[in-house]
Amino acid sequence: MNQHLFIIEYTSKKMVGKASEFIKEHEQIERELIELETIMNSEVINYPNLFHVVKKIKSFWDEHEVKEELYFNELHKKGFTIPIKKIVFEHGRLKRDMDNIISSVRTGSEFNVKESLKRDGIDLIKKIREHIANEDWIFYALPKRLQ
Ligand SMILES: [Fe+2]
Ligand SMILES: [Fe+2]
Repeated sequence: MNQHLFIIEYTSKKMVGKASEFIKEHEQIERELIELETIMNSEVINYPNLFHVVKKIKSFWDEHEVKEELYFNELHKKGFTIPIKKIVFEHGRLKRDMDNIISSVRTGSEFNVKESLKRDGIDLIKKIREHIANEDWIFYALPKRLQ
C-alpha cells in the first residue's frame, strides 16, 4: 500500500459512523414515519401513541443528525463535495416541525393537534423522505472503503 492510501485508510477509521449504518438508520426512520402516517390517517387520533411516536422519531433523529453532521464534515475535509449547509439547514427545519407537533400535543387541544398534523406532520413526512433520499445518493456514491 502506498503511503497516500495508507493515510486515507488510517484517517477513515477515525470517522464517526459508516455510510451503511446511516442507510440502516434511514430505514428505521422510514418505519417510524409509516407508524406516524397510520396514526395521522386514523379517524380517531390516538394521542398517547402520537406523542410516543413523535418523541421516538425526535430522539432517534437528534442522535442521527449529530453523527451525520460530523461524518459529512469529515468527508468534506477529505475533499468530497458535500452540500453541508443545505443538510444542516434541513436538519434544523425538520427539528422545528417535530417540536411543533410535540408542543401541540402538550396543549391537550384536539384542534391544535389536528392543525399541527395538517401543517407540520405532512410537511415533516414529505421533507424527511426527500432529505433521506438526497443523503442516500451521497452514501451510495461513496467509494466502497467508506461504505
Ligand atoms: Fe440528515
Ligand atoms: Fe440522514
